[in-house]
Amino acid sequence: MKFTFVTLFENLVKPYFEDSILKRAQNAKILELEFKNPRDYAKNKHQKVDDYQAGGGAGLLMFPEPICDLLDIIKKDNPNAHIIFPAPAGKPFRQIDAKRLAKKEHIVFVSGRYEGIDERVIEEYGDEVFSIGDYVLTGGELASLVMSDAISRNIKGVLGNEDSLSEESFEDGALEAPSFTKPNIFRDSAIPSEFLKGNHAIICTLKKEMSGLKTKYFRPDLFLRNKGQFDEK
Ligand code: ADE
Repeated sequence: MKFTFVTLFENLVKPYFEDSILKRAQNAKILELEFKNPRDYAKNKHQKVDDYQAGGGAGLLMFPEPICDLLDIIKKDNPNAHIIFPAPAGKPFRQIDAKRLAKKEHIVFVSGRYEGIDERVIEEYGDEVFSIGDYVLTGGELASLVMSDAISRNIKGVLGNEDSLSEESFEDGALEAPSFTKPNIFRDSAIPSEFLKGNHAIICTLKKEMSGLKTKYFRPDLFLRNKGQFDEK
């Protein structure tokens, strides 16, 4: 998988990939990163990339030409590059999207700054527009990081143990059950005793119950959406 980050501030993105699992994935040639700065494609004297909004409105918008020139070059190199614009006005980014996008060969994240990007760029080049939550960030970089991280861990070979993907939150529309490690008793709080007895069928049933309760309590929206699968238990 190749990720291209189109951003005015690559230093906001780069360090995240310089350690741990995602660093290992790059060393193993599973992941390749590229950074492109729209400012390098601005043709005006001061390499300006933003301007006032048509019709008024607070703040500046990134204007089309530098970003479009840059995206044209990326598309020419790889017509299959999948272009994503993070934006608060996008569709919600979910685990199912992370899994689907992990199968792409090249994803381009285009981060807006200031008040965002001229809508015509998004209309012409955007394969998808995603929001990572109902709040407004100062730019698309954090959202691009969140999405690229969630996508990466679904690429074959990135996580050491692929099993860890199958039992985690959202895999079957539920939050993951609580997990425990040593010691068996910590500050008067004990691990549920069944977890220590080694009967995997019982532990599995218990975890499903806990997962259902947790989902109902913390994410009633998820619980209702996937009600059928909780009823079965
Ligand atoms: N850019 C600013 N806020 C955002 C959000 N919530 N999701 C994605 N991109 C954004």
